[in-house]
Amino acid sequence: MDMSLLPPELCEAERGFPAALQACGDLDALMRLKGAFIGREGSHAARMMELLKAAPKEQKRELGAAINALKGQWEESIRIRQAELEDAKRKQGALAQAWDPELPPPAPAKGAMHPLNRLMDRMVEVFRPLGYHVEEGPEVETEAHNFDGLNIPADHPARGSADTFYLKEHAELLLRTHTSPVQVRVMQRLAPTLEEKGGIRFLAPGRVYRKDEIDPTHSPMFHQVEGLLVGKGIGMHHLKGTLNYAMKALFGPKAEVRFRPSYFPFTEPSCEVDVRCPLCGGDGCRVCKGSGWVELLGAGLVHPNVLRFSGIDPEVWSGFAFGIGVERTAMMVSQTPDLRLFFENDTRFLAAMGGLD
Ligand code: PHE
Repeated sequence: MDMSLLPPELCEAERGFPAALQACGDLDALMRLKGAFIGREGSHAARMMELLKAAPKEQKRELGAAINALKGQWEESIRIRQAELEDAKRKQGALAQAWDPELPPPAPAKGAMHPLNRLMDRMVEVFRPLGYHVEEGPEVETEAHNFDGLNIPADHPARGSADTFYLKEHAELLLRTHTSPVQVRVMQRLAPTLEEKGGIRFLAPGRVYRKDEIDPTHSPMFHQVEGLLVGKGIGMHHLKGTLNYAMKALFGPKAEVRFRPSYFPFTEPSCEVDVRCPLCGGDGCRVCKGSGWVELLGAGLVHPNVLRFSGIDPEVWSGFAFGIGVERTAMMVSQTPDLRLFFENDTRFLAAMGGLD
């Protein structure tokens, strides 16, 4: 509006309007402001109407339009601010009603063990009656334990930096790609007293790392439970009997288990062990990639080279080893189609996983 048409006190009111409007913290203040600006009597708007009446004829048209525009602006701004303040008042009222000072405060949420840790504990419990104890190994491993001691040749793809996380400053150190190096560490430690102890039996749960893209069944960090038994005259029948027992203990007596011939450099013969997919009952789904079976572990008879590397005579001793994929097993037990859920730590999911025990 052309302010030159208005006397100074009205120009000042116009300039001060936005700040005055914002300063209204409640509806009472806003009503006072409304009265002062656009009220019927004594307001700035009323004063402008008087001016208009008194104005010379040739000015009336222009002045009238300007005054109406300004008044309209004030009205609109006041209406918006009024709606805001009313809304805030309503919310405050609702809050005051909802708050009962007599009620006890909500109980703090209780933490719980992560479902993957609980499942690993359960696997340990399944094997404990068979005489297995728990061993641990470092997550930052040497190439010697992770590869050489396991008869993994220098040109094996798992040694490539495309599959494996190496430490920049120490080229021979890496994040272990499986829990099998624990086999080497424990065999090396126990080799001198093997005769006395009558053999080795242990389970080694822990984290492993591979340069895998994240998808519903892969993650660059996951968990395995390694198992090793060394004794005299150990054969595939011992391995099959042990794993059949363990899978039924984990999945129930009706669990269907399948052994498939496979290859690992550190076992000979080697096999992969599948369990019938409980998500689809074997019809084929996203988790089992349409095959009806989920591969849960790799296993086999310990390769003579592996025994020899750790100082154990393969002419006297033999054994079997296996590595169970923990996330895959958790997905089976809980019928969860996406392993990422186990790492996102959404407490609603973790609470729903209470059924894993
Ligand atoms: N280490 C193997 C893997 O990560 C699994 C395995 C363990 C296979 C022990 C045989 C014996 O795939």
